[in-house]
Amino acid sequence: MPAEDRAPREVVSFVRRGERLSPGRQDAWDRLAATYVLDPPRGERDTLPGPDARLDLEQVFGRRSELVVEVGSGLGENLAAAAAEHPERDHLGVEVYRPGLAQTLRRIERAGEPGNVRLLPLDAQRALPALLPEGAISQLWVYFPDPWPKSRHHKRRLINPPFLDAVLPLLADGATFRLATDWAQYAHHMRSLLDARPELELLYPDGPAPGQQTSDTVPEDLPATGWAPRFEGRVKTSFESKGQRAGRLVWDLAYVRVSRHRTTDA
Ligand SMILES: C[S@@+](CC[C@H](N)C(=O)[O-])C[C@H]1O[C@@H](n2cnc3c(N)ncnc32)[C@H](O)[C@@H]1O
Repeated sequence: MPAEDRAPREVVSFVRRGERLSPGRQDAWDRLAATYVLDPPRGERDTLPGPDARLDLEQVFGRRSELVVEVGSGLGENLAAAAAEHPERDHLGVEVYRPGLAQTLRRIERAGEPGNVRLLPLDAQRALPALLPEGAISQLWVYFPDPWPKSRHHKRRLINPPFLDAVLPLLADGATFRLATDWAQYAHHMRSLLDARPELELLYPDGPAPGQQTSDTVPEDLPATGWAPRFEGRVKTSFESKGQRAGRLVWDLAYVRVSRHRTTDA
């Protein structure tokens, strides 16, 4: 087929790395995946939901409660800890990396197998708007998303307009959207996009930057204020530790979803 007739390849924010599981992770998968890993009908790829797939939250969790969604839950440090700490909320981790999901199952087991956590093994950008109704999410977390530092890869960053268009309608009025990154350039990119969204307001407009000394390059026009304190309960992950060992600062961001009346009245 001539190159110009081929459909352009979709830009995704992840790479499929080794999917093989170590014996310990395979064992956890075999015992726990049926309970914790959701398995909606798939579409044209195994990371995409089928056209009629929906998540019935009441059926999934056996109740309707405040829903916390973590996109790119990685090895599950935050998800498992938060679910165990907050039995009153429901927690959904969205992650495409199977070894990460299996490791999360091990953490869920060690946390006493809380019943208020589930994993969705799909591409969050495509799956969440297809599976969840508008306003379903009370808290959205994106911690240490892949930085894609090269300019030619910036379009692969998770925090980009297509992802925001997909997830912001899912936030309930007053919902919080928390992010963290150890890359000053990505923090700048996040602030430029998120500060400009009429659906969002900074939770800490006067919050200071996390410090002065960092081993990476800080863009000159990086805002001096508007930064969040470290979110209480945010567990240090291996990705955060790696950034700190490399001498980079951690930039926390927090927004609140403004009331829909206000955005439509404005
Ligand atoms: C750098 S890791 C950080 C993991 C974790 N949040 C932490 O702090 O340790 C980013 C993760 O996001 C996942 N990811 C990237 N894009 C995704 C997407 N569109 N949907 C679901 N997961 C995604 C990757 O597979 C990867 O595990």
